[in-house]
Amino acid sequence: MADYQNLISEIREGILTLTINRPDKLNALNAATVSEIKTAIEDAYDDKKVQGVIFTGAGHKAFVAGADIKEIAELNEVYGRKFAEQGQEAFFSIENCPKPVIAAINGFALGGGCELAMACHLRVATEHAKFGQPEVNLGIIPGYGGTQRLTQLIGKGKALEMMMTGEMISAKRAEQLGLVNHVVKDEADLLPKCRELLKKIISKAPLAVSMVINCVNAVFHPEEKGYQTEANSFSNCCKSEDFKEGTSAFLEKRAPAFKGE
Ligand code: COA
Repeated sequence: MADYQNLISEIREGILTLTINRPDKLNALNAATVSEIKTAIEDAYDDKKVQGVIFTGAGHKAFVAGADIKEIAELNEVYGRKFAEQGQEAFFSIENCPKPVIAAINGFALGGGCELAMACHLRVATEHAKFGQPEVNLGIIPGYGGTQRLTQLIGKGKALEMMMTGEMISAKRAEQLGLVNHVVKDEADLLPKCRELLKKIISKAPLAVSMVINCVNAVFHPEEKGYQTEANSFSNCCKSEDFKEGTSAFLEKRAPAFKGE
């Protein structure tokens, strides 16, 4: 497994946990961390030991409190574009991961942290977690996909309010808005809840799960024809071994044993 400077990587029972590890800076994303996130998630695509992924933050205060403002302060027009494009690419790699990815949000998820969480397929947060896109306070806007994904997740009006006011919202409010899938009481419950969800998902046919991810992502890419992607993916499922196994198991009244083939 690769050796990272700002990420802790651990695989247990088929689940890769990637912990952003800069707790003294509330896990702020500097360029090195964004690059490590991209490498780590792309390595997981083909790693047979990995069936699902959890992103979380080190320490007890923050998931990720945003992009590193010390680095942002140095940006100019040219590097600003590069900064946004590199972050977007890393987060596309998460969104397009063929294996389920869950954000375990254990505190502040602000700016790039909220954007990282939104690039994951599902989000679970503790009650004390806080969400926000405070970039307007710094004279910038979300640049790692936030303007798009927040609007997709919670709708235009609420997304505009969050991004134009820069105000933080609670985990409960985030759950009401559809930004978060589940809220747990405290940190002790957070990773167990994520693992429980992932275990449920990875017990299903892996190819089918990856195609669900692909088809749902296609909804938000107007250049792709979503219904066509769905029909192509459905057809691909029908030629898989897992399809034969899933349907036979149902008819034979037994549990399926999927192989991801
Ligand atoms: N980038 C760089 N450093 C950050 C950071 C960020 N996004 N967020 C926090 N830090 C650093 C602080 O500078 C501080 O470092 P220091 O101890 O060397 O001074 C350390 O993390 C702890 O943060 P602090 O502000 O002292 O904690 P707090 O509990 O008083 O406040 C927040 C917590 C999250 C409200 C506050 O840190 C904050 O507003 N952070 C920036 C959020 C933001 O604007 N994110 C979007 C960036 S585009």
